Amino acid sequence: MHTYNAHVGSSPAVDLLVNQLAPDARVTVLTGAGVSAASGVPTFRGADGLWKQHRAEDLATPEAFARDPRLVWEWYDWRRQRIAACRPNGAHEVLAAWSECYPGFTLITQNVDGLHERAGTRRVLRMHGSIWEVACWARCAGSPLRWHDDTVPLPVIPPRCSYCDGMIRPGVVWFGEAIAPAILMRCHEATRCDVFLTVGTSAVVYPAASLVQEALMHGAYTAEINLEATPASSLVDQVLHGPAEIILAEINERLGLRHGNPAARGSR
Ligand SMILES: NC(=O)c1ccc[n+]([C@@H]2O[C@H](COP(=O)([O-])OP(=O)(O)OC[C@H]3O[C@@H](n4cnc5c(N)ncnc54)[C@H](O)[C@@H]3O)[C@@H](O)[C@H]2O)c1
Ligand SMILES: [Zn+2]
Repeated sequence: MHTYNAHVGSSPAVDLLVNQLAPDARVTVLTGAGVSAASGVPTFRGADGLWKQHRAEDLATPEAFARDPRLVWEWYDWRRQRIAACRPNGAHEVLAAWSECYPGFTLITQNVDGLHERAGTRRVLRMHGSIWEVACWARCAGSPLRWHDDTVPLPVIPPRCSYCDGMIRPGVVWFGEAIAPAILMRCHEATRCDVFLTVGTSAVVYPAASLVQEALMHGAYTAEINLEATPASSLVDQVLHGPAEIILAEINERLGLRHGNPAARGSR
């Protein structure tokens, strides 16, 4: 295993990864909250992870919603307002560019903020849904499974279902809930790749955390980009420590130099 530290700037380690990122490589990237940190979206486990003294893990559950829907919706309304004011950062932009130039590129994200889509990324698999979607809590017969709603701030909390007038819930996958089987199947398929990168995720939430192991089983070259060590660090071929937005920009620049076409790889 090779380790790179962005603060030290040992660039040859980046070159090892760049070597793997051949123009025809099948590339899969798994992202977590760390990718959006530089945009100002708080991570769950970072210093900014608390809201009114509540831990995210105690709010993002069906039990918490059943107990106190107003509290949970107030938290989501706050997060939606905060995310609405954020813009995609350099990490989102590099990945969006790769989604255009790598033919077999797949982006799997645990993020619900929609910033990958706003950066223009193609083929995004959203494991945990979207904060910009809602669903009927009672799953009433007339309502679709989920629908788009990006009203910020919400005029009424908790918001009502326009089909049955009951409560609606955020269209995200909460702790303890199942990921949509069709999405999960496509995530597993995407682990059959040449290069698998895990970026800005604490790698503790399953099944996202097991995807890197699957990719290894399929013979992929694996690397992790994170500010700190995670449970995935000991598994991957290469660990790159530092901010995703800086490391991805550096990789992208090297790719441009190596393959002679920097414009195609990132200067969007
Ligand atoms: N932006 C979002 O949509 C968002 C935000 C918070 C939580 N979540 C949800 O929280 C769950 C928690 O999992 P998670 O692993 O995504 O988040 P997490 O909060 O558990 O972990 C974030 C990870 O990112 C790293 N990190 C922070 N800033 C970074 C940077 N600039 N560059 C690289 N790495 C950085 C941290 O070291 C940490 O390991 C997911 O299910 C997700 O749906 C989503
Ligand atoms: Zn309804």
